Amino acid sequence: PSSITVSQLADKFGVKLIHLIRKMNQVGMPENHRRADYLLNSDEAGNLAIEFDLNPIIDEDKGFDIFPEPEGDLSECPLRPPVVTIMGHVDHGKTTLLDSLRHTSVAAGEAGGITQHIAAFSVPLSSLMKGSDVPKGATITFLDTPGHAAFTGMRARGAMVTDLIVLVVAADDGVMPQTKEVINLVHAAGDSVGLVVAINKCDKPMIDIERVKSNLGTEGILLEEDGGEIPSVRVSGLTGMGLDDLMETLSTLAEVRDLRARKQGKAEGYVLESHVDKGKGTITTVLVTRGTLKSGSIIVAGNTWAKVRQMTDSSGRSIRVATPGMPVTLTGWKDVPTAGDQMLEAPNEDRAKKCVANRLRDDERRAMAVDVQEVNARREEDR
Ligand code: GTP
Ligand code: MG
Repeated sequence: PSSITVSQLADKFGVKLIHLIRKMNQVGMPENHRRADYLLNSDEAGNLAIEFDLNPIIDEDKGFDIFPEPEGDLSECPLRPPVVTIMGHVDHGKTTLLDSLRHTSVAAGEAGGITQHIAAFSVPLSSLMKGSDVPKGATITFLDTPGHAAFTGMRARGAMVTDLIVLVVAADDGVMPQTKEVINLVHAAGDSVGLVVAINKCDKPMIDIERVKSNLGTEGILLEEDGGEIPSVRVSGLTGMGLDDLMETLSTLAEVRDLRARKQGKAEGYVLESHVDKGKGTITTVLVTRGTLKSGSIIVAGNTWAKVRQMTDSSGRSIRVATPGMPVTLTGWKDVPTAGDQMLEAPNEDRAKKCVANRLRDDERRAMAVDVQEVNARREEDR
């Protein structure tokens, strides 16, 4: 653990020594610590950083990196839309199911009929569910993921950011390799993610649901209707059968989870997709998880940063602010962030630049460390 003197820390924070000492007094640090040459340990320095809204863990190696803010008291935060990810084996009907729910026809336009990217949609609850108790303005955020074997990374990212997973299993095909892959992701996520099994294509004749359920049981997925814990619904994305049931189940599960996030303060989120457009430059889809993202905000993700330029919601409307649970596309990146990167708001451009420089330098160091390891390993072999 590194240590740093009070005056060095003031330099590092870019504040006057007297301000730092005053802050140390305010947070109740003992008087004999409040001198320029007192050596603070990294915990003390880190706590003071938070007091100054800086957030770096002060360690010579970390410098000006930017970290998520500590989670405050969630019970005082407003409710946020649940994030629901549709997952399952290729062609089991995920996109069709979402099309049917949203009254769209995405599946029909897909090249080769397969999904190749994560798609994110914010859907008004009132368009998904009937009934007077549907809260006004409430939305659900749906993520559609590809089922093709090649897109393991996208499925893992989809599972990482979600509250609920709808595992779509086609009744005429049963549990297949990517069904199992999703089940493994669910097991790995533990209690942080809820699961609903949607047995799909139930409009088809000659289907054997008992066989599907027994396959699921083998994978450790025991349905509520058989005395287990996993809720399930029988649906058809083609005819719309059972979709009311699915929505009821999802909204009940979301309600139990009491999903909340702070709207105030710096924005945080995840990069779901990232690509380079010839005209517009780098475009990303970002899911905001906390705080409010505004056009003009300075954000970092991975080894790059952006001053948020054009921001659009999932219906393609241009927007200026995005709140927790909203998927948005945005431009303004200096370089291409990687899908899966965490997105964090920086206090200003200078900090964003320093943070990125830091991360790049860390990456270089790691690469050098690997090189050294390799050289050493080779020397061992040569002996
Ligand atoms: P990937 O995203 O590539 O993994 O596929 P997907 O799971 O999104 O499947 P998609 O919705 O593209 O549907 C695959 C095929 O199954 C299409 O031909 C659909 O018309 C058909 N299909 C989807 N749902 C149903 C259903 O409920 N019943 C029947 N009979 N066919 C369905
Ligand atoms: Mg699809």
